[in-house]
Amino acid sequence: MTKTIVVTGASSGIGAATAQKFLKEGWNVALLARRVERLSETAQGAPQALTVACDVTQEVQVISAFDQVANRFGRIDVLFNNAGIFPPSGRFDTLDLAAWQASLDVNLTGMFLCAREAYRRMLDSGGRIINNGSVSATTPRPNSAAYTATKHAITGLTKAIALDGRDLNICCGQIDIGNARTEMVEALIRNSDGPVETMAVEDAADAVYSMASLPLDTNVLQMTIMANRMPFVGRG
Ligand SMILES: NC(=O)c1ccc[n+]([C@@H]2O[C@H](COP(=O)([O-])OP(=O)(O)OC[C@H]3O[C@@H](n4cnc5c(N)ncnc54)[C@H](OP(=O)(O)O)[C@@H]3O)[C@@H](O)[C@H]2O)c1
Repeated sequence: MTKTIVVTGASSGIGAATAQKFLKEGWNVALLARRVERLSETAQGAPQALTVACDVTQEVQVISAFDQVANRFGRIDVLFNNAGIFPPSGRFDTLDLAAWQASLDVNLTGMFLCAREAYRRMLDSGGRIINNGSVSATTPRPNSAAYTATKHAITGLTKAIALDGRDLNICCGQIDIGNARTEMVEALIRNSDGPVETMAVEDAADAVYSMASLPLDTNVLQMTIMANRMPFVGRG
């Protein structure tokens, strides 16, 4: 039977590359984001693609989007919980409450709402939720307290879902990506003093595919995939 994945934030970057990877592999793919025209560009008219306008911070929109996916494809095998923002960065004392709140709304509450809707639809026959964390889930980038706090929180969310899904055949894992070339990283490069080492977004998508392809008795709880030359591991 053809498997179904929901990809949030499928209108650009890692989400778009992942949606295209799964379409190429013959999966049914539901593409969610706010910019529907960008979702259509990503789907490229593929017959097994469903594009749904959805702001992941809005509970009603998230519930409706998952209902549309279930109506079209019957069941949901995998959620790639990917939609996220990198709020304006700055020294800690300058951080703005509205930017902090926006970061929590998308990166944490949005991921909670989407995971909950996927989990509800996996109760009978299991499934897999893959949360997009970040290398910032363990190690902060300077001047990015809001982003760092949400990504650390995703690790807790991942473990809690993995534990609460264990007896239901619902797996939950997290992928922590370091510097895949996307619009988010292009913005970081523009604001960086020195060179920023990057990796191809398609390699991140391939990693998501390998996590999603495992049988439900096996789970990658946490995977780090990063530009090999980025200064993340050890001293310098
Ligand atoms: N690139 C990296 O190296 C890297 C590293 C670590 C973690 N990540 C994580 O990877 C994820 C994707 O990032 P990216 O690099 O691919 O960035 P991106 O190209 O800026 O993509 C972000 C995606 O999130 C969606 N999004 C943002 N707010 C949303 C909302 N309220 N509702 C629905 N969708 C929303 C955007 O779609 P719309 O604007 O159309 O809604 C867009 O499709 C994020 O969670 C990010 O933290 C990326």
